[in-house]
Amino acid sequence: MNRLSLYIRQSLQSIYSPQELKSLTRTICCDLLGVDAIDFFLGKDIHLSENKQKELETILKRLRNNEPIQYIRGYADFFGLMFSVAPGVLIPRPETEELVDLIIKENAGALRILDIGTGSGCIAITLAKKIPLATVSAWDISEEALAIARQNNSQLGTSVSFCREDIFDVIAKTEFYDIIVSNPPYITSLEKEEMDANVLDWEPELALFVPDDDPLYFYRSIGRFGMESLPLGGKIYFEINQAYGDKVSFLLKTIGYRDICVIKDLFGKDRIIKACK
Ligand SMILES: C[S@@+](CC[C@H](N)C(=O)[O-])C[C@H]1O[C@@H](n2cnc3c(N)ncnc32)[C@H](O)[C@@H]1O
Repeated sequence: MNRLSLYIRQSLQSIYSPQELKSLTRTICCDLLGVDAIDFFLGKDIHLSENKQKELETILKRLRNNEPIQYIRGYADFFGLMFSVAPGVLIPRPETEELVDLIIKENAGALRILDIGTGSGCIAITLAKKIPLATVSAWDISEEALAIARQNNSQLGTSVSFCREDIFDVIAKTEFYDIIVSNPPYITSLEKEEMDANVLDWEPELALFVPDDDPLYFYRSIGRFGMESLPLGGKIYFEINQAYGDKVSFLLKTIGYRDICVIKDLFGKDRIIKACK
């Protein structure tokens, strides 16, 4: 290992695991400081200019302050695409890639798709790329998130239509969708204790938390909206809190959905729910 990598690892070892340090060191050197990847992997000694040295110190300070590396880079990888991200928007997660993958596999011919709570636009934009015949719309309550989503839409060359909507205050629509998808906020404040500081200190609360006394309120509201806006046979897909598979399933049944199916993620946790109108 070269001296630069060693220095980075030593500066961060009190807060990151060895596995995290390995990937952070590579990202800092190759993606952020522009070190040649071959030199890096060969362990060659690397000399940084004074400016790059200052840049490195700023990056290390931000990381010690628990800022996620994706915010420092300004982008996150999702489904092989690069999405711009900033502190006003949730960093796309691998489990959401599983949700998108399922929708693509099951709906190659889908025509009208709506993504509710779009954040960076990762779900809507990836679906627009992978199901090219679809017309994709996406809503979020946060103007900050919508600005980033629109930026991603133009950078990634898609034509998703983004709109500010509060799902609890949707004025009756005449539009219909074949698929409604949502990864809504689903973490209760009781779960905060188990969460990492880089999520709690940096990612938007609006994207994460639901009231402890009504953790399913997004699912209820979106589920009811789906009943009005899906044709018979239209489908709804949700990402869910692993603790609420049965409860969301029961809720959707009560609202009137059929063929309800809870799907586990790669770690064997209930993570996706899909249903038909
Ligand atoms: C868990 S994040 C999901 C972001 C993105 N879809 C993803 O999977 O990475 C939930 C999103 O819902 C949005 N949101 C929160 N309350 C909302 C509301 N009442 N109406 C519409 N969107 C809302 C948040 O701003 C946030 O972007």
